[in-house]
Amino acid sequence: MSARIIPVQPFDYVVFGATGDLTRRKLISALYHRFADGQFDERSRIIGVSRAQMTDAEYQDFARKAVNEFVEPQYRDKDTIDRFVSCFSYVANDVSNRDVWTDLDSKLRDDPQIVRAFYLAVAPSLFGPICTYLDEKGYWRRDARVVVEKPLGSDLASSMEINDAISEVFAEDQVYRIDHYLGKETVQNLLALRFGNVLFEPIWDAAHIDHVQITVSEDVGAGTRGYYDDAGALRDMVQNHLMQLLCLVAMEPPASDDANALRDEKLKVLRSLRPITGEAAARNTVRGQYKGGAVNSGSVASYQDELPDDRKGSRTETFVAIKAEVENWRWSGVPFYLRTGKRMATRVSEIVIQFRSIPHSIFDHAEGAPKPNKLVIRLQPDEGVKLFLMIKDPGPGGMRLREVPLNLSFAETFHERTPEAYERLLLDVIRGNQTLFMRRDELEAAWRWIDPIREAWDNAPDAPQAYTAGTWGPTGSVALIERDGRTWHEGEH
Ligand code: BG6
Repeated sequence: MSARIIPVQPFDYVVFGATGDLTRRKLISALYHRFADGQFDERSRIIGVSRAQMTDAEYQDFARKAVNEFVEPQYRDKDTIDRFVSCFSYVANDVSNRDVWTDLDSKLRDDPQIVRAFYLAVAPSLFGPICTYLDEKGYWRRDARVVVEKPLGSDLASSMEINDAISEVFAEDQVYRIDHYLGKETVQNLLALRFGNVLFEPIWDAAHIDHVQITVSEDVGAGTRGYYDDAGALRDMVQNHLMQLLCLVAMEPPASDDANALRDEKLKVLRSLRPITGEAAARNTVRGQYKGGAVNSGSVASYQDELPDDRKGSRTETFVAIKAEVENWRWSGVPFYLRTGKRMATRVSEIVIQFRSIPHSIFDHAEGAPKPNKLVIRLQPDEGVKLFLMIKDPGPGGMRLREVPLNLSFAETFHERTPEAYERLLLDVIRGNQTLFMRRDELEAAWRWIDPIREAWDNAPDAPQAYTAGTWGPTGSVALIERDGRTWHEGEH
C-alpha cells in the first residue's frame, strides 16, 4: 500500500537559523523526503538565512551533507539529491543588528501563487527582531506564514512577551507554533482511533476508564545541552508534548477536523485541569535527576558530571511524574499519570488507557480473575496500537482466561517508512493547515497550569530525587501511582 501524494503549491521557504542544529538535523532531511516523494519540485525555493558568510553553492553543499548524514542510505539517490539541493540558496544576515540588515529581494518572488513562509529556527529572543525586519523590508504579506518552535517562553509572562512580539506583525492565522509531537503519525492516529471508529467513544469516559498513563521516556542524557539546564523536564517536555497528548486523549469530539474546532476542544481540556499549587505539588508531582548508571549496556555519567563547572549543583529536574486531573463531566475522578525523563531504561513514548474491571465475574476466581482491558497506543518506537483482551486459554481442562493483545503494528501492516513529524508539519504550513499547531490561547493555558508547579518546586527546600540512569525514574514516581493502588505499565518494552 503506498501513500497518496498530493503535491503542494510552489513555495519560498525562508529559514532563519539556516546553519543551526534543527535545520541540519531535522528540517533538511524532512524536506528531502517530501521532495523525493514528489510533493514539491524545483519550482519551490528554500532560502537559508543566518549570520555566517556563505555562497549559494556552499549552502547547497551544507544541505547535501545534511541529507547524507540524516537520511537513511536506502532513501538517498544522487540525482534526486542534486535536484533537491538546487532549490537551496542563501543570504547572510544578522537580523539582531539593524545597521547591517541585508535584503531578500533577489530571492523572494512576488508571485501571489507562490506560498511565502518564514521558519524561525532561532532563539526566541530573535523572533521579535525578525518579525520587525520582515515587516520593515516589506516581505510581510497577508497570506505569508511564520513558523516558530519552542521554547516559547519559560513561563506565562515570557511566553506572552514572545507572542506579543510576533503578533505585532503577524495575525494569529499566520502563526504556526510547532509542537513536533503533533506531527507524529501515531499521535494523529489517536484522532483516527477515537473519531474514526464507533467502538471507543461510547466507553471513553470515567464510567469505563480507570486511569490514563502517558509516558515519554528517553535513554539520552541532557547535561551537555546548554538550554536544558535552564528549562528542565517540566518546561522541555511536559508543558508542550505531554500536555498536548493529554489534550488529544481527553478532549470532546470536535464538530469537524477544522483547525479551530480541534483547538477549541483542546483548550477546554487545558482549562479544566485541576491546578496543582503549593502543598498539592508535593503530593501530586515528583521530580528526579539522574545519577550515573548503565543505559543500553553502556555506563553513563550522572547529570551533574555532564554539566559544565559553572552549573554544578544544579537542581534542574531530568525526570517528572505528575498526577493530573481533568475536572469535567467526562473525566471526573480519572487520574492522568504523566511521566517523562532522560536516561531512563529505554526510549518509549506511549499512552495507556486502563479500562475498569468487569462489574461481575462469572468465572471461577481460582482460575484467575479477568484483568481489566487496556489500550496501549505506542508513539515510538514500533508505532502501533495494542488492545489487551481476555481470552480463553486454548485447550481442554477448565475455563482459564489469559490476557492477550490484539496487536496492530504499523510497520507490519503498512510496510512503509514512518514519516518524521517535521515532514507533515513543514508542508501543513504550505497547505495553510493549522490543525496540528498550537494556538496562542492553548499555549498560555498550558503555562498557566505549569507555572504554579514550577513555583512550588522553586520554593521547596528539597532537591529532585536521585535515580540511577537506566531505570524508570526515582522511587517517588512508583509511590505516586502505587499509593492509588495502580502500577506503571512497563511491560513488553
Ligand atoms: C524535544 C526536547 O522537544 O523533544 C528534547 O527538547 C527531546 O529534550 C525531544 O529529546 C524528544 O523528541 P522525540 O521526537 O525524539 O521523542
